[in-house]
Amino acid sequence: MSTRLGSVHDIPLGEGRTYAVAGEMVAVFRLRDGSVRAVSAVCPHKGGPLADGQIDAEVVICPLHLTAFDLTTGCARGDLPPVKVYPVTVDADDMLVIPSEVLL
Ligand code: FES
Repeated sequence: MSTRLGSVHDIPLGEGRTYAVAGEMVAVFRLRDGSVRAVSAVCPHKGGPLADGQIDAEVVICPLHLTAFDLTTGCARGDLPPVKVYPVTVDADDMLVIPSEVLL
């Protein structure tokens, strides 16, 4: 089973959006190359909204205190714990999809 979050076109290139899925807040980013990444939307430092952070091809930078998190591994570039990474994909209908089992 999988959960559809919405159209990938709802996220402008180079930006992120937050989705509430199965009780989790998930930040989904659309990189400038068109690929997508998803991590926990809440920064483990003081709860910063990661979907509002600046991204490049590798990291998202928390908008509150500028910690960078790797979008592939979730690891912080600093002393913070990692954020959870979700395996998001885009299906044939251009919908963002996350496997339901990773949300449990
Ligand atoms: S809340 Fe994200 S770095 Fe402080």
